Amino acid sequence: MRKLLLSTVIAATAATGAFAQSASDVAKARRAFYTLVNFEMSTLGGMAQGKVDYDADLASQSAGDLMTLASLHTADYFAPGSSNEDIPGETRAKSDIWDDMEGLQEKGMAFYQAVAELNEVAGNGLEALQPAMGKVGGTCKACHDDFRAKDF
Ligand code: HEC
Repeated sequence: MRKLLLSTVIAATAATGAFAQSASDVAKARRAFYTLVNFEMSTLGGMAQGKVDYDADLASQSAGDLMTLASLHTADYFAPGSSNEDIPGETRAKSDIWDDMEGLQEKGMAFYQAVAELNEVAGNGLEALQPAMGKVGGTCKACHDDFRAKDF
């Protein structure tokens, strides 16, 4: 019953609602997604922290790529059966996600909105970039605190 309910919730948010991939494939895609998110964030974070020189073009480009990533439909990366209880050692996604899909979506929306705001200002100088990056970083942490386990 629980599985059925959760599948319904996910189906409502996914483009197709049909998941042909194995749980391992889902976890791999999910982790690859966040690896890309992190890659773009590292470029911007380096500038925000003064580790590399601010470059308006590069900052705009990375923020744009982050926006593209944040715009993906990620419901299929959270297909049921792919939590760290289902496939231990392959993922850090806590099973809490599937008990609180709404909570996950809220955190995802906060991330999306912060990235949208970042896009507005990333090319406008370091002083504009820094607070916007702080806000995006806060949304990463908020989701990880609730839904990502520390260890595999
Ligand atoms: C809506 C929730 C959410 C948001 C927002 C989020 N993350 Fe994550 N992140 C996760 C979850 C869940 C995992 C665990 C994925 C897994 O192990 O299957 C994860 C994993 C990761 C990983 C590890 C990937 C790997 O190789 O296992 C990195 C790095 C990461 N996130 C960075 C970020 C950064 C940087 C941001 C913000 C710019 C961010 N995340 C925003 C939920 C989120």
